[in-house]
Amino acid sequence: MSVSPSRLLVTGASGQLGRRVIELLLEAETPNLIAASRDPAKLADLAVRGVETRRADFDDPASLAVAFAGVDRLLLVSTDALNQPGRRIAQHRAAVAAAAAAGVKHVVYTSAPGARPQVDGGVIDDHFWTEQALAASAIPGWTILRHNLYAELLLMGAGQAVASGALYSATAGAGRAYVSREDCARIDAAALRQGEGRKILDVSGPAAVTQDEVAALYSQLSGKPVTHHALSPDALRQGLLAASLPPSLVAVLVDFDVAAAEGQHAIVTDAVEALTGQPPVSVAAFLEAHRAAFS
Ligand SMILES: NC(=O)c1ccc[n+]([C@@H]2O[C@H](COP(=O)([O-])OP(=O)(O)OC[C@H]3O[C@@H](n4cnc5c(N)ncnc54)[C@H](OP(=O)(O)O)[C@@H]3O)[C@@H](O)[C@H]2O)c1
Repeated sequence: MSVSPSRLLVTGASGQLGRRVIELLLEAETPNLIAASRDPAKLADLAVRGVETRRADFDDPASLAVAFAGVDRLLLVSTDALNQPGRRIAQHRAAVAAAAAAGVKHVVYTSAPGARPQVDGGVIDDHFWTEQALAASAIPGWTILRHNLYAELLLMGAGQAVASGALYSATAGAGRAYVSREDCARIDAAALRQGEGRKILDVSGPAAVTQDEVAALYSQLSGKPVTHHALSPDALRQGLLAASLPPSLVAVLVDFDVAAAEGQHAIVTDAVEALTGQPPVSVAAFLEAHRAAFS
């Protein structure tokens, strides 16, 4: 008797990470693939390639009951709803509840390093309570993948740092094990296909890199001197607000630097290589490949 392959669903499939996971699964000729998004029209090209598409909006639990029906394994991509306190955790709880109700057997969740409760809420608090919701659910298996910060985030500020010669952080000299979005997509796809049991894995690049080292890489790759200046969290917040960044983004960036200063981002693991068979890219190699973006 042949057993039909598991039905795999990826939420947020029109986002950068979700779409790349779908592409990787297609490259691996994964059968029974479902791509879900708030707006399935954005997945029309995938539908043409034979991928089933469904509408799944974490703000609309009724959509989730339909979207998750018959699904065996689910990649729950954390959302980007950071500008309204409490909204993201409500979204994630709705997704976990719908997955449990639909009888999903294994959920992979994209968490963050050092997920823990925070008095004022925020990104890390959301991830902690989503992890707790999974642990308390009737879902038999889950893989929580605590993605370190994307190496791509470096590119947001690299051009400015090179142009001004100054890189600012409140990381207090601590390292951060940046991992590329591509490596996150690779491990997410692998865990969606094969993850078993109930596990929390830190997903990191090959080394924890300090902001002094990042500044040195910018200098070396651009040929222009860049110096790292260590700031207090408050000074960093004021500087980012003065540079007209949206307050919700400033809060996230400062929270992340405080977490790094506490050592939360310095955890280096072999999870990417262990699950995918290929090591993750280093920050130096990543920046070299994206040199045109900042020099
Ligand atoms: N580790 C890091 O450094 C880092 C950096 C940035 C973001 N992140 C997190 O990782 C996630 C994926 O990153 P990304 O680069 O792919 O971000 P992105 O391109 O901005 O994608 C945002 C994602 O959120 C989904 N989403 C938003 N509202 C939703 C809702 N109501 N219901 C269901 N899904 C919703 C979107 O899905 P649809 O549009 O398809 O519905 C999309 O997949 C982000 O959403 C964020 O939580 C991590």
